[in-house]
Amino acid sequence: MERREKLYEGKAKIIYATDDPDKNILYFKDDATAFNGAKKGTIMDKGVINNKVSAKLFQMLAENGVESHFIERLSDREMLARKVDIMLVEVVARNYIAGSLAKRMGKDEGGKLDKPIIEYYYKDDALNDPMINRDHVLVFGIATAEQIDTARATAIKVNQILSEYLFERDILLVDFKLEFGNYNGKMLLADEICPDTCRLWDRHTLEKLDKDRFRRELGNVEDAYLEVCRRVCGEL
Ligand code: TMP
Ligand code: ASP
Repeated sequence: MERREKLYEGKAKIIYATDDPDKNILYFKDDATAFNGAKKGTIMDKGVINNKVSAKLFQMLAENGVESHFIERLSDREMLARKVDIMLVEVVARNYIAGSLAKRMGKDEGGKLDKPIIEYYYKDDALNDPMINRDHVLVFGIATAEQIDTARATAIKVNQILSEYLFERDILLVDFKLEFGNYNGKMLLADEICPDTCRLWDRHTLEKLDKDRFRRELGNVEDAYLEVCRRVCGEL
């Protein structure tokens, strides 16, 4: 598979065209940002780890009947993926109170929710990705009813499968963000699933093993990412 022109550069990845119009190469960078780019830094080998962890989790989800854009990992930092048209809704699933949910509801972090909460965010950096609901999605034509309902159902399924998979590896899946893309009329899971896009806490110590270590200046960021890679992929 030949890497052709750069199509898009985001905060964590670069998307390249290939000689196949239906496939892109995703290049995972070490650049880290938080608070919509207001905080910038580098996490050593983050790109390598996020590529590896995402590949493993997409593979595992495919084995459990959840289709994604993932085709194969080409190298340490490159993933071959189906070329999807990204839906401009980020879907967040939450199992424990943390992050913006704790802030919005005036609660301490850490409480387990009675049932998962699914939230939608409008993917628009200029607006700082505001939270929206299903009505906003439909009335503003951001996605169709079928697309958003499929995304919601898939997020619930992914949450069940991923929570169990990670729990077996002594990780609590606190919350996570998913992106979806249209591929020949089908909504596929897209983007990445990794310590940048999930909150992952050690099951016993509740130690944070995710990007919150960077966002909140907690230190040992690289070690946390490596530990997730070890537990998820079974090696480095
Ligand atoms: P939040 O609590 O800040 O709303 O984040 C919820 C989850 O979404 C958390 O696991 C981190 C992830 N997330 C992203 O992947 N990208 C983002 O831009 C934000 C704000 C959160
Ligand atoms: N990815 C988002 C950003 O750069 C925010 C975050 O993950 O906290 O700004």
